[in-house]
Formats: sequence, structure tokens, C-alpha cells
Amino acid sequence: MTDISEFMSQDHDRLDAIFANFRKNSAGGQAKQLFSQFESGLRAHIAWEEEILFPPFEERIGMRDSGPTAVMRVEHRRIKELLRSIRDGIDGGRQVFLRVPETGRLQPITIKDRTGVDASANDLKDVLQAHNHKEAQILYLWLERTLADGERSALLGRIQSLPGMREN
Ligand SMILES: [Fe+2]
Ligand SMILES: [Fe+2]
Repeated sequence: MTDISEFMSQDHDRLDAIFANFRKNSAGGQAKQLFSQFESGLRAHIAWEEEILFPPFEERIGMRDSGPTAVMRVEHRRIKELLRSIRDGIDGGRQVFLRVPETGRLQPITIKDRTGVDASANDLKDVLQAHNHKEAQILYLWLERTLADGERSALLGRIQSLPGMREN
């Protein structure tokens, strides 16, 4: 059976692959669908960490408001901000006003801001790379080395029993 630390690392790899595919095709017809898949997967992954994996770590280590998980929570907030900014760029774009020469009136038009999407996606790639590495080296390794087999499989079982959990 898959171990919780292996399962979480595999999920990083799975999400990285979807995100790389999105970044290659961020202007294409598949962009929205790829991004939605990535975004919902990453938001679920973050929730598993914050709700299921951080608590046993914090209880044993005796640190919640400072220490590794406090830093990881801050990084999760930054990751969600970047997801939001990519989502806004894909969905709506930016509104600008153009003057109509014949009437002199200002007319609102929406332009797609590709630069914003790609810049946020690049930032997100960098933030995620460092964040995932840190989790694997600190949190996942700790789970693997500290918890008993039964505790680890109980944590994995909780994640896998969540509604909407993907079927693989
Ligand atoms: Fe995380
Ligand atoms: Fe993670």
C-alpha cells in the first residue's frame, strides 16, 4: 500500500505535470480546462496538508504559530493569491476605456492580459518548487520517520475517504 509521504510526493509530481502543460498552452483552447484541473487539485492538496497532516506534526513538535508549518501556511496563502490572479486573467482580462472618434465618448472594452497570466504562472512555479521541496524534506520526511505504520495509514485513509477525492 502507498505510504502517506509517497502519496503526497506523487501528488506534487502529478500537479507539476498538469501545471507545466498549462504553462505551455496558456494561450490555447485547453487553457481553462487545464488550469481548472490544476487549481482544484492544488487547493485540495493544500487542504489535506492544513487539515490532516499539519495537526499531528504541530502536536508532537509543540509549535504551531511559529516553526515550519507556520511558514508553510504563509506560503499556501501566497500560492492561493497567485492562483486567483491567474484565474482572473484567464476569465476576464482587464477593462480599459477607448474614446470613440465619431462621438468623443468613452467606451469600455475588455482586453485579455496575457502578460499578467504568464508572469503570475512563472511566480507560482518558483514558489511551488521551493515550497514542495521544503515539505518533502521536512513534513513528509517527518511523517515517514516519526509516525507508526498504523498512524500513517490512518492519515492516508482520511484523505482518501474525502468526498471528491480523485479515483486513482
Ligand atoms: Fe503545501
Ligand atoms: Fe504539498
